Amino acid sequence: MIIKSIKEAKSILVSEKIIALPTETVYGLAGLINSEKAVRSIFQAKERPFFDPLIVHVANLEQALNLSPKWDEISTHLAKTFWPGPLSIILPKSLRVSNLITAGLSSVAIRCPNHPLTLELLSILPCPIAAPSANKFTKTSPTTSQHVIKSFGNLVPVLEGGSSQVGLESTIIQILPEERTLYILRPGMISQEDLRIEIPQDFAIKTQTKNQTPGSMKSHYKPDSLFYLIPPGKNIHDIPAMQEKEITPLQLDENPIFAARELYSLLHSLPKNKVSFFQMEEKHLSEAWVPLMNRLSRASEI
Ligand code: TXA
Ligand code: MG
Repeated sequence: MIIKSIKEAKSILVSEKIIALPTETVYGLAGLINSEKAVRSIFQAKERPFFDPLIVHVANLEQALNLSPKWDEISTHLAKTFWPGPLSIILPKSLRVSNLITAGLSSVAIRCPNHPLTLELLSILPCPIAAPSANKFTKTSPTTSQHVIKSFGNLVPVLEGGSSQVGLESTIIQILPEERTLYILRPGMISQEDLRIEIPQDFAIKTQTKNQTPGSMKSHYKPDSLFYLIPPGKNIHDIPAMQEKEITPLQLDENPIFAARELYSLLHSLPKNKVSFFQMEEKHLSEAWVPLMNRLSRASEI
């Protein structure tokens, strides 16, 4: 079912039900953070384990300030710089955020999405929303309303907002001021270089944490058919599973920004009866391709 107006989206959410809505990264499966019933429905619909926490989406920084008692100076600056936009910031959680949302963690991931419809909706809701990507657990994320309908049929009403313009999930970061370190927990289209310009020079940027983000298991973003990411210099025919199979290459735009925008649509439409692969070249090892190769390596069978 397609939701016809923002007013209708609001009334479904206020009645403690969930909807799918557009963001600039991917479509999200949303429920009010104050409704335990709605938050439970999100996990159930996605078949997502309760140990994998949800991102809270806000209309603006003011709303986000209420969700953590410890907004440090740098996180505040990054929110002011990149919001609304594809950056999720992890901060100590306040009591307004339930343990169900954070999977029992003492921190919460917060983001202000950059999509006009969703921003307008957020600004008229009684509280922020929790929203993971609107796909079944471990499957490919949706960048169109059709992708959402393919996963959930009529079970979840969808607010139509066109194709997601960024196309990959947000960059997730955490600042540890006492360690003078910014951790990147999930790479996204806001890059390490973008972040570097905005933080003090003596801060380190690290991409590995002692506690990896709970949702970062190897198997993720899986298409419905077999897919292999082939490293530079390796040959598709060297992989035993590929022998005697019909294979088809995944072709990506030369420009990583356009490639990110169309990546999930391409993965959703891979032919089911063939084995697909992406042949990496040396250039795909560079910084600009990190978030794309991160998703492809986890969608890959090896
Ligand atoms: O772009 C996005 O971030 C999209 C759109 C809908 O906003 N959302 C999204 O949500 O990708 P999801 O649930 O598919 O991925 C969120 C990731 C999960 O891997 C989860 O483990 C991690 O964020 N996460 C959430 N809260 C966390 C926390 N407090 N500490 C560490 N990781 C956290
Ligand atoms: Mg997801």
